[in-house]
Amino acid sequence: MSVAVIVVAAGSGERLGAGMPKAFARLASWSVLDHALVRVPPDADLVVVAPASHLEQARVTVALHQEIRPSPSAIVVAGGGTRQQSVAAGLAALGDEVDVVLVHDAARALAPIEVFERVVEAVRTTGEGVIPVLPVTDTVKRVHDGVVVATVDRADLVAVQTPQGFPRAALEAAYAAATVDHTDDAALFAAAGHSVATVPGDPRGFKITTPDDLHRAAQLLGPEWAVAHGRGGVGYDVHAYDPEVRLRLGGLDWPGEPGLSGHSDGDAVIHAIVDALLSAAGLGDIGSQFGTDRPEFAGAASAVFLERALSLVAESGWQVANVAVQIVGAHPKIGPRRQELEEHLSALVGAPVAVGATTSDRLGFTGDRGLGAIATVLLAAAP
Ligand code: CTP
Ligand code: MG
Repeated sequence: MSVAVIVVAAGSGERLGAGMPKAFARLASWSVLDHALVRVPPDADLVVVAPASHLEQARVTVALHQEIRPSPSAIVVAGGGTRQQSVAAGLAALGDEVDVVLVHDAARALAPIEVFERVVEAVRTTGEGVIPVLPVTDTVKRVHDGVVVATVDRADLVAVQTPQGFPRAALEAAYAAATVDHTDDAALFAAAGHSVATVPGDPRGFKITTPDDLHRAAQLLGPEWAVAHGRGGVGYDVHAYDPEVRLRLGGLDWPGEPGLSGHSDGDAVIHAIVDALLSAAGLGDIGSQFGTDRPEFAGAASAVFLERALSLVAESGWQVANVAVQIVGAHPKIGPRRQELEEHLSALVGAPVAVGATTSDRLGFTGDRGLGAIATVLLAAAP
């Protein structure tokens, strides 16, 4: 006897309009589907129903999930043209030992694990269908042609969520008997003559439908989420002033300013960012990645290092959340071009880059002989 959760993720997400199926839209650096899967109880079998066009992407998502938080079994099947057909495809893929089935919308990505647990428990104790519900708090009216016809008594109204749970055999029979499209699994189950009980839902189980919903979901996850799934890194670089060369700093030209010496173009700002990126992703540093034993990088422009570091970071499953740089030196004056620098670097990195600057009060190396830059990076983890 075991529980299986069918996560239906085969919709196209028209209303979200993310340019991809909704389950793969980004939510705080994970996909919507990643968020849904991580909240499924770990002792349940997983059946993910994905768009036929995105089976491979769904398999990658599920394989990653299995590495981090393994379910006893996890498979991906192709969905159909309607949600009901997608659920049917999931049902057809259940293992023999499954006796309780939960059907869950991937789009309700933040429905917490407690709701799953309440539903399973209630299916086991009642032997009926079980749906999570929330009281309706708004006044509800019946409207016809823009005119109010009646105020509906909301005392006996509830809003219905997923996961919805059922005894497997009865749900399969109900699906086999269904001849019309029902609004949800509970309606199909009830149409076959079964009763459906309710348990408390959770506001976090709202369905991500529009861009506003996605924004609300990101806000609900909040900064704690970023901290729990993020990693910081630091990088530092200095180069000596060399009046014979032109200054290149932060990827910009600085006419009339003394340049910086060094192999490559001496761009201490970009070098510090590259080191911070590599350090945050646990990939060593500029020396170990692009050192003298790698002839293809000899004398390479800093932009090449940055581009390569960004792809290494992405290949390791990280995404840049933000970068901060502090430039230390007597010149050039950063203030007048700070905004331009920030915009340029943000475009290069693909994430917000903040730039600050200080002189070191004419003390030490950065007092007059050279320029230093220190950078910090926050990476957000892929699941
Ligand atoms: N779903 C599915 N197969 C379909 C249609 C929907 O598996 N043919 C899934 C969706 O992926 C979603 C859930 O059912 O997780 C609820 O559907 P909905 O919110 O309507 O998602 P979409 O159909 O993707 O969105 P839209 O209606 O805006 O296109
Ligand atoms: Mg839909």
